[in-house]
Amino acid sequence: MPVDVQHILHSGSERIDQTLERLLPAPDTIPHSIHRALRHTVFAGGKRLRPILCMEAARMVAHHKNSAASYPDGVEELGSAIEMLHTYSLVHDDLPALDNDDLRRGKPTCHVVFGEAIAILAGDALQTQAYEVLSNLRCPAPAIVSIVREISIATGTVEGMIGGQVLDIEGERQAPTAAMVEAIHRAKTGALITTSLVCGGIYAGASPDRVEHLRVFGKKAGLAFQIIDDVLDVTQSSEQLGKTAGKDTATVKATWPAVYGIEKSLADAANLITAAFAEMEGFGASAEPLKAVARYLVERKH
Ligand code: IPE
Ligand code: IPE
Ligand code: MG
Ligand code: MG
Ligand code: MG
Repeated sequence: MPVDVQHILHSGSERIDQTLERLLPAPDTIPHSIHRALRHTVFAGGKRLRPILCMEAARMVAHHKNSAASYPDGVEELGSAIEMLHTYSLVHDDLPALDNDDLRRGKPTCHVVFGEAIAILAGDALQTQAYEVLSNLRCPAPAIVSIVREISIATGTVEGMIGGQVLDIEGERQAPTAAMVEAIHRAKTGALITTSLVCGGIYAGASPDRVEHLRVFGKKAGLAFQIIDDVLDVTQSSEQLGKTAGKDTATVKATWPAVYGIEKSLADAANLITAAFAEMEGFGASAEPLKAVARYLVERKH
């Protein structure tokens, strides 16, 4: 059956929005300011691509073991925890001390609306809340421990998200090299995308061998994703992106197009996705929905 990727994206993001609504404290919870602040960015309209990749990886593993199986029960809570971590990284990425952006997901950034102190704390709060959700996941305890380990490393300082953000900030206004941009992209963005896929697989009970295929798939797709993020910064409008276009050029960021140009960047991203697909051969037709989402990562326009 042909895969309807628009349906996967739409139903996946709805499911994540509903789950986040249930998991996050209500806006009138005291202290009001922080709960309103974290909800402001969480519900501003993200694409929910990391949780969707996570849920599709889990569905693929479950379906491959038993063709009657669909999404494992409760996997949307794992996806929502990952989305909380991603949103925390965005709130902090936009702060004046980092990228100093005033537009995110089509809305004024968290610190513009709530002030810097509350925005910093809202990011922190999304991170701690994510681990609370992970502790309650509906999978065997050893799988929860593996997931927490994977996610904490992927968001950490050694080849993880925070380490990548450090390289990104320290790389501003320096002549970017190919090795430098690749290290930044793999860490600041690739690691969390990779862990979304790996953790979806672990949640569904994938064998260690299959988890490693998901990891290689994620590394390639995650790098492709950030290459496209860099391309869109140059080729799209702020309105289309919901964030400030042209920002990387203005702040002289180390980006893929700065090193290779737009055309080669697009070709590199497409080739990475093709190479990623080879990792999914063992899953047969069960991999088609996940592959369709991965294709969307590089074909998207925002
Ligand atoms: C933006 O990620 C930040 C990067 C890591 C490049 P997304 O493009 O997934 O942003 P949202 O979640 O849809 O807003
Ligand atoms: C952000 O990279 C990566 C993280 C938030 C970890 P960018 O700075 O390129 O993301 P955008 O373009 O502001 O969304
Ligand atoms: Mg940044
Ligand atoms: Mg930024
Ligand atoms: Mg960017």
